[in-house]
Amino acid sequence: MKKIILLVTLIGLIGMGVDKYKQNIVPVSDFEIQNLILVNKNNELDSKYEPEDLVLIKDNKGKDILIKKQVEKSYQKLYKDALKQGINISVISGYRSYEYQKNIYERNVKKDGEEIANSYSAKPGESEHQTGFAIDIGSGKCDLEQCFEDTKEGKWLFENAHKYGFILRYPENKTEITGYIYEPWHYRYVGINNAKAIYDSEVTLEEYLKYEN
Ligand code: DAL
Ligand code: ZN
Repeated sequence: MKKIILLVTLIGLIGMGVDKYKQNIVPVSDFEIQNLILVNKNNELDSKYEPEDLVLIKDNKGKDILIKKQVEKSYQKLYKDALKQGINISVISGYRSYEYQKNIYERNVKKDGEEIANSYSAKPGESEHQTGFAIDIGSGKCDLEQCFEDTKEGKWLFENAHKYGFILRYPENKTEITGYIYEPWHYRYVGINNAKAIYDSEVTLEEYLKYEN
């Protein structure tokens, strides 16, 4: 009898160990309602996942970009208020399908090798661009480069984006937690209350959700 109990316990423990290394598949419907869906290197989206309410927005060259309806509404407010203060920004990237992200990631791996690519480019399924809640914002100067933080547009966004429900998703010195290097251009919609709380407490989305890798 004792032997059987020991065996069952052992199998259980081994099972728990295996579970720890399993990827979490994100429960989209639960979190989407609250704008708090967490997508990162340990929480991936299904390859077939597509947000339902995508709408079109133009980039500064007139090219169509898709983002979630609520994100577009909030972005338009942010954009107009910024413009009134002499800050002219535009969306560079919004929703990206699994397939599109796969192409981007593979291109980056070819260019920089896997290790470096992993520091700034998400594998397909692991990009929050697939949720439609993330946007890359630029101004024509230092677009998608770290020097964007020193532009007046980058500074304005850093100080004001939370008032419209956006957070800087990959802050400086938070790579250990987010899994990615500093991206002063990548903003994530989480709703105004969440964004203000995250901004005030200077935490990442992972910390806000008390998520541990
Ligand atoms: N650059 C971010 C991490 C992405 O590829 O989604
Ligand atoms: Zn991005």
